[in-house]
Amino acid sequence: MELIIQRDKAAAAALVARIVAHEVRTNPCTVLGLATGSTMEAVYAHLVRMHRETKLDFSGVRTFNLDEYVGLAPDDPNSYRHFMNEHLFKQVNIHLQNTHLPNGRAADLGAECRDYEKLMADAGGIDLQLLGIGKSGHIGFNEPLSALKSRTREKALTPTTIKQNAPFFGGEDKMPRRAITMGVGTILDARRCLLLATGEAKADIIAQAVEGPITSMVTASALQLHAKATVIVDEAAAAKLKEREYYRWIFANEPEWEGYR
Ligand code: GLP
Repeated sequence: MELIIQRDKAAAAALVARIVAHEVRTNPCTVLGLATGSTMEAVYAHLVRMHRETKLDFSGVRTFNLDEYVGLAPDDPNSYRHFMNEHLFKQVNIHLQNTHLPNGRAADLGAECRDYEKLMADAGGIDLQLLGIGKSGHIGFNEPLSALKSRTREKALTPTTIKQNAPFFGGEDKMPRRAITMGVGTILDARRCLLLATGEAKADIIAQAVEGPITSMVTASALQLHAKATVIVDEAAAAKLKEREYYRWIFANEPEWEGYR
């Protein structure tokens, strides 16, 4: 795992966007795994700007999102399909039929999950998977005790997650209790994983995920098993990491990061 510290939230989001843009330019038919959440909004704003200003071309890109709430229609303003359409898909030249999210209103949710796995496999797997982290330590909606080999499935949300996301719904009672999410095993199959976390509210959970033991209690810690996982944080989210000096040295000196400094 690689840990990169940037001075603030804006710089961290910009770095993630530049890595995604590099991937898209290098491989115009890239398969992106995408994430939602407020942290990702700045990343998508950068990609939209790069599309407008530097003609970053999404016409060959295919995408698979991590998760979707059970019971929400695609045009529900709180659905992740709506989030993605508004923040990214409608603002770049991606073909909507190449963008995929699980259907949280499928009549047979089990079949929907199996079909989603098959769609990803048929696309050749995910080249670059974007991730945020929830306060419960989840990636996607892989709440505590999610099997580290889990695949796309239905998952009940924890009280921590319900509390964290309820403001978007105008209260906990209005929020879905279940979601469809790629499994931890599905995420680990991506060729590269890129997790972004910013702000002091994420400092504790980032320290647990990065420097703590690999445990299904903090599913982001499973990224320690991945051969190419990069975690990008701002100073606030890095505050509880023990090896901050080492991580800063990596970004300042390793040749891989030369073009990004
Ligand atoms: C939701 C998503 C997660 C995401 C998390 C972070 O719970 N299911 O994939 O990581 O939000 O949210 P935020 O960026 O708003 O802190």
